[in-house]
Amino acid sequence: MKKFAVIGDPVQHSMSPAMHNAVFAKLGLDCIFEKVRIQKGRMENEFASLRADYSGLSVTIPHKIAVMPLLDKLDKSAELVGAVNCVDFDGGKSKGYNTDMAGAVDSLKAVVGSLKNKKILVLGAGGAARAIAFGCALEGAEIGIWNRTEKKAAVLMEELKKAGARAWKQKEPADILINATSVGMSPLPEETPIDTDFLESSMTVMDIVYNPLETKLLKEAKKRGCATVDGLEMLVRQGAKALDIWLGIEAPLNVMRKAAERELKT
Ligand code: ATR
Repeated sequence: MKKFAVIGDPVQHSMSPAMHNAVFAKLGLDCIFEKVRIQKGRMENEFASLRADYSGLSVTIPHKIAVMPLLDKLDKSAELVGAVNCVDFDGGKSKGYNTDMAGAVDSLKAVVGSLKNKKILVLGAGGAARAIAFGCALEGAEIGIWNRTEKKAAVLMEELKKAGARAWKQKEPADILINATSVGMSPLPEETPIDTDFLESSMTVMDIVYNPLETKLLKEAKKRGCATVDGLEMLVRQGAKALDIWLGIEAPLNVMRKAAERELKT
């Protein structure tokens, strides 16, 4: 049997076990996905036993950066984002990935097709925003970053440009607006990260917040006729990317999504 786990602290509310175990059951795979609480500062001590016990790990707060120096190799996604959320132990070597990048890109592509030359405004400059912005930049999109703390937006934009990203000039309206902040999350679901007058019907609007599933931003976007992508879609697709890395399987997205929706209701 192959074992996988999500490691973090807190880890009890992670939706990864439900999503991944639903896929293992559906496909009849002899695999199990567990939750392991590892406190901040304990990664280095625990890593050898995790490596011995598991075939792969999902990594969440507070270990996404701390795990990096312990790994044999980093995928380009992890190098660009500067954080690892997925570890593969294959053939005795450990490799770190950032699957949020593919999760965001795949979610958008499923709705708008190619991202090449699309003008994308990312709200936020934290870890999630970095993964989304680098992912979209590599697809040939033009990127703009807006953040409450302007300095952080400027720093991220400079890093994106160094990696070859094209900046959105703001002369034409954005094609895609992405909320990569926590604004709109329960218990403050009436908040939006941007004035909703900014929304135009031609835009595709994506939100990384999935609690509530339909945020105020997405509700307002739908009212204006925008196409929308919710936060669960990105969560599901980053998980599907991890299953591809670990097992080389194309995960049934609907099975993962239903499992995640069930978890949200509990
Ligand atoms: P994550 O890794 O999930 O992206 P993070 O690194 O803490 O989390 O980043 C959170 C993002 O949400 C930041 O861009 C943050 O803005 P600041 O850089 O100004 O802190 C943004 N954010 C959080 N609360 C916000 C609020 N109430 N209004 C606007 N932006 C907010």
